[in-house]
Amino acid sequence: MRLCCFSLKGGVGRTTLALNLAGCYARDPRLRVLVNDRDPQGGASAFAALSDETPFSVGRSRSPGFNIEIADTPPRLPDNEIIPEADLYLVPTLLDGASFLIFLRTVEVLEKKGKRYLPIANRANEKRASHRRRLDHPKMDGAVLVRDRALIADCYEQGQTVFDAADRWALKAQEEIHGLAVRVRKTLKRDGKGRAAA
Ligand SMILES: Nc1ncnc2c1ncn2[C@@H]1O[C@H](COP(=O)(O)OP(=O)(O)O)[C@@H](O)[C@H]1O
Ligand SMILES: [Mg+2]
Repeated sequence: MRLCCFSLKGGVGRTTLALNLAGCYARDPRLRVLVNDRDPQGGASAFAALSDETPFSVGRSRSPGFNIEIADTPPRLPDNEIIPEADLYLVPTLLDGASFLIFLRTVEVLEKKGKRYLPIANRANEKRASHRRRLDHPKMDGAVLVRDRALIADCYEQGQTVFDAADRWALKAQEEIHGLAVRVRKTLKRDGKGRAAA
């Protein structure tokens, strides 16, 4: 399976979600998981450098022998406009006005190219009316919610995923990321009837 975290907006959680999803899949010892860092800024590679040990691989190219590859990409279209091949594109967005506008542009690009995608409302806070309003937008139909959690940011800073932590908050965060993995599987199962376009 090939996944690609994709957004034309930076700072929305592509790298964080790629790594945590990799941490989730890597709990299954049968799975060999690669985070393919295609961002010249190298966020995922920096994470790996901070980390003592990751239960998944982080590399800067595709390699054979992995069951799951999650590509992490820079916040722009490549010069040749060719987006990395993937079975499903994960499109995180924050729910502020500017991020959301760029999210809408991002999904328009993917729809034009006939790519299947899963929207992710990252750092969501349902207590905020502006967040709730944007969650109701038709393009967020079926979006996965990942809440704003200090634990996610703290783990990331230490080269860890939420699956390396073990308190009450870690369990909540793990549940949320696991929920994302389940939604990825279900969306791919729908075979062509997911959020593909055109
Ligand atoms: N759900 C979340 N809760 C709290 N902090 C988050 C969450 N998702 C991302 N962050 C933080 O937001 C910042 C930007 O995330 P990052 O994954 O680097 O974005 P991108 O790769 O899209 O540029 C990081 O400091 C990260 O720790
Ligand atoms: Mg990044």
